[in-house]
Amino acid sequence: MDGNGRWAKERWGRSRIFGHKNGVAAVRTITEACAEIGVKYLTLYAFSTENWGRPAAEVTALMNLLVSTIRKEVKQLNENKVRLHAIGDIESLPKQCYNELLEGMSATQHNQRLQLTLALSYSSRWEITQAMQQIAEKVAAGSIQTSDIDEQLINNHLATKDMPDPELLIRTSGELRISNYLLWQIAYTELYFTKKFWPDFKEEDLYEAIYHYQQRERRFGKLKSV
Ligand code: FPP
Repeated sequence: MDGNGRWAKERWGRSRIFGHKNGVAAVRTITEACAEIGVKYLTLYAFSTENWGRPAAEVTALMNLLVSTIRKEVKQLNENKVRLHAIGDIESLPKQCYNELLEGMSATQHNQRLQLTLALSYSSRWEITQAMQQIAEKVAAGSIQTSDIDEQLINNHLATKDMPDPELLIRTSGELRISNYLLWQIAYTELYFTKKFWPDFKEEDLYEAIYHYQQRERRFGKLKSV
C-alpha cells in the first residue's frame, strides 16, 4: 500500500499522516471489493519491520490509526463475513495496538468469506529467520532430523502457514521492488505494478489488476500446456 505520503504532499500539500488516513479509506474500499468478487485471501502490507525507523510521530500516528480503524471496522467486518488475521512480530506493537488487534481477530474468528491479513511489524527476512530458529531448535532437541527439512516443513514454520501462496501481488505508487514482503511465498506469484498512489487505488483499479492477471499464462516453471 505504497504512496500515502507522496499522495498527501503532491496532491494536497498536506502531512504524510493525512495520506495514511486516506489510505485507510482505500483499505476499506478494496477489502469490500475483494469480498464482493469472491477473493478468499487479501494480505495487506501495513507496517514493515523497517517502518519502525520512521519519525516517532509518524509511527505513533500509524499505530493510533490502526487501533481506531480496527475498533471502528469490526462491526462492518462481521457484516461482510471478513475474518481478520495478522502476520509479523505483533508482540512488538504498542500494548493498546496489540490488544485491539487480538480483540479484532477474536471477534471475527468465525467469518469465512474473506481472510484479511494485516502484515504488521513484518518483513520476510524476519519471518524466515524465525522459521530457521524454530527448525534448528527442533533438530537440536532431536524431534526432527536434518533430512526432514523440506519445502513443506519450512512453509509450516512461516507466519503464512495456513494461507495459500499469493496468486497476485499488487504494488502501488510506481516503485518497482518487493521491499522484504512474502519473499518465500511469491516464488511463482504474478506481479503487478501501478503508478497510482494507494489512496487513489479504487475498485476499478483492482479489477484492472485482476484482468491483467487473467491474461497471464502461469507455467510454474513448466512448459505451456497444449
Ligand atoms: C506506505 O506509504 C504506507 C505505509 C507505510 C502505511 C500503510 C498504512 C495504511 C494504509 C493505514 C493503516 C492500515 C490499516 C490496515 C488500518 P508511504 O508512507 O511509504 O508513502 P510514500 O512512499 O509516498 O512516502
